[in-house]
Amino acid sequence: MLIKWLQEKYEADVITVTVNVGQNENLNASEEKAKKLGALKHYSIDAKDEFATDYIFPAIKANALYEGKYPISTSLSRPLIASKMVEVAEKEDATGFAHGCTGRGNDQVRFDVTLGALAPGLKIIAPVREWCMTREEEIAYAKAKGIPVSNTAKKYSIDASVWGRAIECGLLEDASQEPPEDAYEWTVAPEKAPNTPEYVTIKFEEGVPVAINGEKLKPLALIEELNKTAGKHGVGRIDHIEDRLVGIKSREVYECPAATVLLEAHKDLEKMVLTRHEVLFKQQVDAEWAYLAYVGLWVDPLREDLDAFINKTQENVTGEVKIKLYKGGLTVVGRSSPMSLYDKNLANYNIKTTFNQSCSKGFIELWGLQTRMHNALKKSAKKQRGAKTAKPA
Ligand code: ARG
Repeated sequence: MLIKWLQEKYEADVITVTVNVGQNENLNASEEKAKKLGALKHYSIDAKDEFATDYIFPAIKANALYEGKYPISTSLSRPLIASKMVEVAEKEDATGFAHGCTGRGNDQVRFDVTLGALAPGLKIIAPVREWCMTREEEIAYAKAKGIPVSNTAKKYSIDASVWGRAIECGLLEDASQEPPEDAYEWTVAPEKAPNTPEYVTIKFEEGVPVAINGEKLKPLALIEELNKTAGKHGVGRIDHIEDRLVGIKSREVYECPAATVLLEAHKDLEKMVLTRHEVLFKQQVDAEWAYLAYVGLWVDPLREDLDAFINKTQENVTGEVKIKLYKGGLTVVGRSSPMSLYDKNLANYNIKTTFNQSCSKGFIELWGLQTRMHNALKKSAKKQRGAKTAKPA
C-alpha cells in the first residue's frame, strides 16, 4: 500500500526491507508482494540471532517489564529494525525512509527517534500517519488497489517477535471482556493444557540463560524452545491496560511464554546472589531501562549507562532455576548457585549457627533510634495540647 502511494505522490524509487525478528510471517510472500507492487529492489534480512543476543539478553539482565507487566516484545525489535533500515539506506544512497506506523501508537516514536539519531538529515515519511485513515479505510483502500489482506489482519492488529506476540483492536477494545480464544496462537487455553505439570531447569551464566534441562542451547534456540514448552502449558498470556507514550490508555493482549519464564527465573536467581542493597537499587534501574526501551529511547546514552551498571551486577548471576509449568501457571520451585548468599545454616532455626543473636539487641536499638525519638516527641506534644485545652473545674 505504501509502495503505491510513495510512487504516486513522491514519484519515488522504492526499495523495500523486511527484517525477520521472529514474526513467523512468510517473508518470501512479502518480497513477492513488494516486487509486484513495483518496488525497485527488496532486502530480506534475518536478524533473529542478533535480536536474541543483543536485545533480548540485555532485557533479561534488566528484568525488563513495562509498567511491571509487559515484556516489551514489540518495543525491543523497533531499534533493531530501524538500524537495519539505516544500513540499507546507506548502501543504496537513499534520500529518505518510509514506515507504516499510525500517528496514535508508540512505534512511530521508536522508528522516528532511532532513524533520526542514526541517519540524521534523511527524510522520514509516515504515510499512514499523514492519511489519518481508520483501519477500516486502510483495508478498503488495499482492496480497491488489489492488495491482499489476510483474515487475521482484518480481525486484529498483530505484531510478533521471538520475544512475544501482541494482539490489539477488534473485540479486544472492550476492556471489560475476556479476549476471545482465537486471539491466541502461541499458547493453549490453560483449561486445555496437560493435566500433569512439567518441570524445566534453566541454567544461567552471568545473567543470561545458557541451557535448558542440562542441554546447552544458543540464545535464539533456547528462547524458541521455551516459547513452545511454556505455550503448551498455557503460560505467558498477559492482559494489560497500558499507557502509551502519546497518552492513550490501551488494552493490550500479549502471549510471551518464553519471556514470562525467563524473566521470572532470572529475577529469582538475582535474589539469591545479589545483596539486598543491590536488589532494591537495581529494581529502580530495571524499571528505567524498560521505560527507555518502551518510549523509543533505545539509542539514548542513558540506556547504555544503565547497561554498564546492570552488566556489572550480573557477574555473579550464575546458577540454576527450576520452574514448574502447570495449567497456565508458572512457579519457581527451586534454585541453586555457586555464588549464593543464601546460607541454609544461617537461616536454620534449630541449629547453632554463626549468626550472632546477641548482636540483634544492639542493632535494633540503633535501627529504631530516630523512629523512637519521633514518636516520643509526638506523644509529649499531644500531652501538652491536652493540658492546654483541658478547662479548669
Ligand atoms: N503496545 C505494545 C508496544 O507499544 C505493542 C504494540 C503492538 N502492535 C500491534 N499492532 N499489536 O510495544
